[in-house]
Amino acid sequence: MQIVRNKQEMASYVLEQKRTGKSVGFVPTMGALHEGHLTLVREASKNDSCVVVSIFVNPTQFNNKEDLRLYPRKEETDFAMLRSEKCDVVFFPDVDEMYPEPDTRIFDLGELATVMEGEFRPGHFNGVAQVVSKLFDIVQPDRAYFGKKDFQQLAIIQHITRQLHYSVEIIPVPTVREPDGLAMSSRNERLTKEQRAIAPHIYKTLFKAVATGQQMPPEALEALVIKEIDGVAGLRTEYFKIVNAQTLQPISSWHEKCNKVGCVAVYCGDVRLIDNISF
Ligand code: PAJ
Repeated sequence: MQIVRNKQEMASYVLEQKRTGKSVGFVPTMGALHEGHLTLVREASKNDSCVVVSIFVNPTQFNNKEDLRLYPRKEETDFAMLRSEKCDVVFFPDVDEMYPEPDTRIFDLGELATVMEGEFRPGHFNGVAQVVSKLFDIVQPDRAYFGKKDFQQLAIIQHITRQLHYSVEIIPVPTVREPDGLAMSSRNERLTKEQRAIAPHIYKTLFKAVATGQQMPPEALEALVIKEIDGVAGLRTEYFKIVNAQTLQPISSWHEKCNKVGCVAVYCGDVRLIDNISF
């Protein structure tokens, strides 16, 4: 497994692979890898003969300096984990390599970015779009793998891929969970033992909400979920929205003809966790 820090070197490595007829599968990450990330890598290795994983904690998508500072960084363990997988190369640039000058691009993300994460983390998705477009330009993948755990991010990446005419195929991968239901996340490492013990209530409540389903209007169910989560000492819901899975806009009736997904953001102490479930 090679570790490449330089973007030109990364680009020529991929070109060489493509010249020999290989297809390139790409898994962008911010490191502190867990089974969720490794599942994306395994999906990539099923479909593609060359697998590229990037590890880059992208400063432009953090709207909170403290969150960026506290984001876990564990390259050596990450490399060791990837060596046990079918990963051919890790792209591991530093900030100057990715942003030799400030990125002033503003992406038109439309209504996808005005709700939920977009509302509570202004600028976050523009930063994601900046870094993902740079990574796609460098890696030129045939397929790129993204987790449904970050449902809104996935929708936005599908949107910019169409908008910018990237020829990459976006492959969504289901959320990987701990045995108690908690969605795996690099941020889980920041939870204290007590916080880790209450965090599974988030998914338990979502699961129950799906079972309750259409017995009440979507808005009433949203209110109930928020009340249940907030009823657990140590958890505080930022939002829970039941939305159209395509447009990410809130639904007002269960009769709307679309796939529906419930998306939640919850503070567990000062750690912000997100999750979602299909209805
Ligand atoms: P990161 O949070 O490291 O996640 C990298 C990829 O792993 C994303 O596609 C995310 O959805 C996926 N992932 C995380 N936890 C998962 C889980 N429990 N199950 C399945 N997939 C999971 O998302 C980012 O990094 C960044 O925003 C990035 C796209 C790399 C741009 O900087």
